[in-house]
Amino acid sequence: MSSDDKAQAVSGGDMEGKDKGGGAGPVILSFIIGLAASLVLGWVIFPQLLYSQKQQPIDFNHKLHMAEVGEDCSYCHYFREDGSFSGIPDLYSCMECHSELMGDSEEEVRLYENYVAEEREIPWLVYARQPDCVFFSHAAHVIMGEMDCVTCHGHHGETESLRPYEYNVISGYSRDIWGKSIAGLSNDPAKRSKMDVCAHCHALEGVGVPTQNVENPVESLFKETVNMIWPTTVTPTRGTSVQTHRDGCFVCHK
Ligand code: HEC
Ligand code: HEC
Ligand code: HEC
Ligand code: HEC
Ligand code: HEC
Repeated sequence: MSSDDKAQAVSGGDMEGKDKGGGAGPVILSFIIGLAASLVLGWVIFPQLLYSQKQQPIDFNHKLHMAEVGEDCSYCHYFREDGSFSGIPDLYSCMECHSELMGDSEEEVRLYENYVAEEREIPWLVYARQPDCVFFSHAAHVIMGEMDCVTCHGHHGETESLRPYEYNVISGYSRDIWGKSIAGLSNDPAKRSKMDVCAHCHALEGVGVPTQNVENPVESLFKETVNMIWPTTVTPTRGTSVQTHRDGCFVCHK
């Protein structure tokens, strides 16, 4: 090859390169548009289709009532003699104060006319409600485990107004199980309370299994990836669930 030929080949290559560059623009652009569209679809549109909302029957104000009862939460949420949890107070408890109208707020009038006067229980929607197959005991956590309500419910006890109840239109489950974040990587039970979140805390606390070396999902995903590329550089991760344990399922399932 003469040096002239080479120069031609190089410049020819360059020309080709330029042509490709001209073609890559739209490709990259449509990739970006496609990516943005699928992110919007997955993070915004999909959750909107998947979840529907209901309003609570009465907009209950925890803050106002805490000031009124001047006590702790156990004025309304207490443990019975047999250790069972009273849950949400019944209408009778409300009537200790609301047997007659006290103020003229719209919500109180609604409470009086629809429920007190009719002696009808208020059909509250429970944000934390688990599916029927799950066994959960407040006594085990609050009395034995000495846990605070905030650990699992966030600051619900300090709210002035009730957020809408959101539920999955396919399974009918409350949104609090999957949580607000679609990525679902949090192990904070106040943000989501899926099986792996319950199991994560149980593994940390050694409930049902001996305490394990537990990691958060991002950490274990990272370590597993590193392990796949360079085996034995990091210690293999131990699962956060108790699923490998015999009979482990029946800690939480009936
Ligand atoms: C210890 C007494 C007491 C108990 C028990 C009680 N309330 Fe109240 N509640 C009050 C007082 C006092 C007010 C303020 C009345 C006012 O000025 O409107 C109030 C106000 C309300 C209002 C109107 C709030 C607003 O934002 O305007 C609603 C609704 C209500 N209560 C629902 C309930 C329900 C439901 C229960 C039962 C779970 C209950 N209350 C139990 C004392 C009580
Ligand atoms: C005057 C009665 C009363 C008192 C006192 C009270 N609550 Fe409640 N609580 C209710 C009623 C009524 C509901 C049902 C409506 C709702 O979801 O807020 C409820 C529901 C709840 C729920 C259920 C949320 C879910 O998943 O559906 C939690 C958690 C809760 N209360 C926490 C607390 C905490 C923490 C305190 C103390 C800081 C407290 N409550 C004090 C009446 C009370
Ligand atoms: C370890 C997590 C955890 C802790 C701590 C906890 N809860 Fe719950 N709570 C739950 C779960 C899970 C449910 C749903 C239970 C079900 O579906 O059977 C629930 C349900 C409820 C309900 C709805 C009630 C019902 O009818 O069963 C109320 C009210 C409530 N919790 C109040 C409280 C209060 C008040 C405290 C603090 C004294 C507390 N919780 C502490 C996890 C927790
Ligand atoms: C933040 C930590 C934590 C979370 C979250 C948690 N648990 Fe627990 N759980 C405990 C601890 C600690 C105990 C043991 C309490 C004791 O006996 O001292 C326990 C005990 C239990 C028990 C009784 C087990 C036995 O052998 O007596 C059941 C059932 C249970 N948990 C179910 C659940 C379910 C279902 C969830 C999720 C909805 C959940 N737990 C979420 C910490 C947690
Ligand atoms: C630490 C408590 C805990 C343990 C242990 C546990 N689960 Fe679960 N499981 C849950 C909770 C809470 C749910 C509901 C929330 C969800 O779907 O993640 C659930 C949901 C499920 C569901 C879906 C049911 C439905 O109606 O949506 C299946 C299937 C299941 N568990 C199987 C198992 C099996 C199999 C094991 C044992 C290998 C096991 N679980 C151990 C807490 C637990």
